[in-house]
Amino acid sequence: MHILVVNGSPKGKNSITLQTVLYWEILHPEHTFEYLHAGAQIRYLEKDFTKALDALEKADLVLFSYPVYTFVVPSQLHRFIELMKAHPEAVQGKYCAQVSTSKHFYDITAHRFIRDNCAEVGMRFVDGLSADMEDLTTAKGQKEARDFFASLIWKTEQGIADPPGAPPAPAKHVPVTPATSISAKTGNVILVTDCGPEDTQLQAMIDRFCASMPLKTTVVNILDFPIQGGCLGCFNCAVDGTCIYQDGFTQLLREKIQKGQAIVTAFTVRDHSKGYRFKLYDDRQFCNGHRTVTEGLPMGYLVSGDLSREENLRMVLEAEPQVGGNYLAGIACDEVDPDGEIDAMAAKLFYAITHQYQQPANYYGVGGRKIFRDLIWEMQGLMRADHKFYKAHGMYDDFPQKHWPKMCAMYLVGAMLANPRLKAKMGGKMTEGMLMPYQKVLNKARAAMQQGQKP
Ligand SMILES: Cc1cc2nc3c(=O)[nH]c(=O)nc-3n(C[C@H](O)[C@H](O)[C@H](O)COP(=O)(O)O)c2cc1C
Repeated sequence: MHILVVNGSPKGKNSITLQTVLYWEILHPEHTFEYLHAGAQIRYLEKDFTKALDALEKADLVLFSYPVYTFVVPSQLHRFIELMKAHPEAVQGKYCAQVSTSKHFYDITAHRFIRDNCAEVGMRFVDGLSADMEDLTTAKGQKEARDFFASLIWKTEQGIADPPGAPPAPAKHVPVTPATSISAKTGNVILVTDCGPEDTQLQAMIDRFCASMPLKTTVVNILDFPIQGGCLGCFNCAVDGTCIYQDGFTQLLREKIQKGQAIVTAFTVRDHSKGYRFKLYDDRQFCNGHRTVTEGLPMGYLVSGDLSREENLRMVLEAEPQVGGNYLAGIACDEVDPDGEIDAMAAKLFYAITHQYQQPANYYGVGGRKIFRDLIWEMQGLMRADHKFYKAHGMYDDFPQKHWPKMCAMYLVGAMLANPRLKAKMGGKMTEGMLMPYQKVLNKARAAMQQGQKP
């Protein structure tokens, strides 16, 4: 079988993910492997895609090899997918698969991104391997890699693949009614967009939001900003947060966007995502490492497109503020009732700003942050800026081993339950016992209310 490896890592041959593919190549001389370093050569491919087209046409199996970058794939690979999709005839009916390495932080949304886009151009999606970045260095990881490759080849040869996806239906937009601003406003809500001149629907949504929002909204259009390139994964920023690029993006981020009272992101759905330009923007925020620098700021989205059909994108939109510690005031879309949704989002955002309203993180946030916490703890020697931030913000405080009183209490209860006589005596008191700390809170609130002191 002739396998075309599309290496989406900007690190090219130095990609960790690629090492797994090289491992397969060593073990399987019966197959031929061809490499297209799309991540490292994207500028060249943007100018001339013929080399890529020739390689895609020759392939029996297209294997995307990439690191997970900020919930999805690196911006360079996103751009490659965009270019590939402009030539569906080159890949239609072809088998494809993917291998990624990461710390498993939102690897699922990255894999779905590749899958949705490949399905859209009629490729037959076979399978995916999402490995931890260190897996290949362990015997278990090597076995998993070998087993995956064997099953991948078997499935491809047997033709066990997803059917090609249905062509996308044309997006339907409900027109937005212009709203007029009542008076001069103060405040600093930041709206970040990639709205181009042809994107009249998104522009109408932005205008309505700006009019509806009681605070002044400053629009930052990232199309106007000369972003020199995508994150290179070079880790130049790890120690002190300084990006290798000197295009002013870090300043724009830190001095303008992050200084807002709330951040709204406005985009049109493209490639089952926020689109390539926003991917560039999202990846470049790696100069903030894993630091939740906008924690507490409310957020919102204005989305033009069929969001109801994009469950993967919705997960990304909901997870981003969760992980960042931001209250999501809403996602206003133009599918059904854009006027109502935009106005409601603006009102909720205003409420959140004026009441400093926040919510506890859900699974997306708690799970994601724990992955980061463990990673930064382990890599504290290198990721110094993150480590310093995590220490200062108590982000290591929830390590289970630090909860000694609770752990001792659990040992005690466990020992009691292991004794049949004590267990019988305790009867159904277990759940009652667990309520004790909560009852303390209720009693305290009751007492405060009785004394006329509302908490
Ligand atoms: C800009 C950037 C964003 C990243 N985003 C994620 C992420 O969202 N989830 C994750 O688990 N790892 C993330 N990582 C870690 C990489 O996925 C991981 O280091 C990967 O193994 C690198 O592979 P490569 O050497 O093939 O490029 C990110 C790394 C960088 C530089």
